[in-house]
Amino acid sequence: MENFILHNPTKVFFGKGVVEKLHENIKNYGSKVLFLIGKGSVMRYGYYDIVLEQLKKSRLKYIEYKGIRPNPVIEDINYAVQMATEEKIDLIVALGGGSVIDSAKIISLAAANRKDAWEIMTKKVAVDKQIPVISILTLAGTGSEMNAAAVVQNLKQERKIGYVNSLMYPKETYLDPEFTCTVANNHTSYGIVDLVAHALEAFFADGDATLSDKFVGAIVQEAMYNAPLVLAEPKSYKYRSRIMWAATCALNGITSCGRKTSGDWAVHEIGHAISFLYDTPHGATLSIAYPAWLKFHLTKNAKRISQLGRYLFNENNISAEKTILKIETFFKSMSCPTKLTDLGFIEYDKNKILNLMIKNNVTGLNHKLEAKDLTDIVDLMYF
Ligand code: NZQ
Ligand code: ZN
Repeated sequence: MENFILHNPTKVFFGKGVVEKLHENIKNYGSKVLFLIGKGSVMRYGYYDIVLEQLKKSRLKYIEYKGIRPNPVIEDINYAVQMATEEKIDLIVALGGGSVIDSAKIISLAAANRKDAWEIMTKKVAVDKQIPVISILTLAGTGSEMNAAAVVQNLKQERKIGYVNSLMYPKETYLDPEFTCTVANNHTSYGIVDLVAHALEAFFADGDATLSDKFVGAIVQEAMYNAPLVLAEPKSYKYRSRIMWAATCALNGITSCGRKTSGDWAVHEIGHAISFLYDTPHGATLSIAYPAWLKFHLTKNAKRISQLGRYLFNENNISAEKTILKIETFFKSMSCPTKLTDLGFIEYDKNKILNLMIKNNVTGLNHKLEAKDLTDIVDLMYF
């Protein structure tokens, strides 16, 4: 096992009605709040009103930024940073999915340090301060609510990149599964693919970490068991809560302890390129990229893939081929795309996606990919 430090400072409030405590808790962080939301789903389904009531009850001053896009872009973040700086805010309350929470984290660093957001993300400038972020999650999947990562697009530079900084852990996170009961089945499925993919990324990092492997197995089994149940009964608190907690645990550090890196992450890097090109939801890029990446590794890493199969499907002699087939079948069972052509509108354009992957430096951290490997993986994503 590798040496590791586990320090996750995010305080999690889980369960029905937990947001009712928000008005008391936020008073610990200052006097002026930036309230950040996405394109409007939280207003449509009433979560915005619940949180607004809490802000009013706290008697803190607040300003609002509405309109963070799914797959967030740096321009929106820059605008919100300007607001946050001018208004001298000292707390960010982010209500939404991964896109809103990720944006809040970068706004926090850029505003606190008076530095350019993209320069922070591309590590051109260092930062040492943050504005506290409180997250209230409405979509289970990314794990952003209890981790120190953020993913943002720069349309001009044709890049979608992730950035990790321990200053970005939310101070508090509110997980009320009822807030996720309105998520449409397609986005529920994409969130489930995402959490499974996070667990698998950790599994394919280097290092002997058998307990972490078992956590991966347990999290993915929880997702696979509850996926058809939640899709059949989207308003079920029971199934929503199981999926929500599984998603948080899939990327809060616990599956990476004892490994050389937090994960391999090549599949995520490939996914970000697809997402950038076609504005595809994150989980839908992973249901295409994961089967292709596994098939590419079939001969080189058959032993590790069949080991994964044993953890996921409790079959002692399961082959690598069967493991991949079962994972792909699971994605299909949730009506997720497993080929680029499933996205419908896409023409065969191998070079376009290949060039973007090279430009975005897709390699992975453990099973490193070279340009010729990416060509094979792109083929596997088409055919
Ligand atoms: O924008 P609104 O109107 O709010 O609607 C959203 C959006 O259209 C909607 N939605 C959210 N909560 C809802 C709801 N609809 C009905 N009821 C609700 N309760 O769902 C759509 C997708 O939302 P989004 O936040 O974009 O999805 P997700 O949570 O999957 O976040 C995706 C982003 O997170 C990044 C992805 O790359 C992508 O940019 N990731 C962040 C990670 C992290 N910070 O650790 C790790 C992940 O691997 C991922 O890369
Ligand atoms: Zn992900």
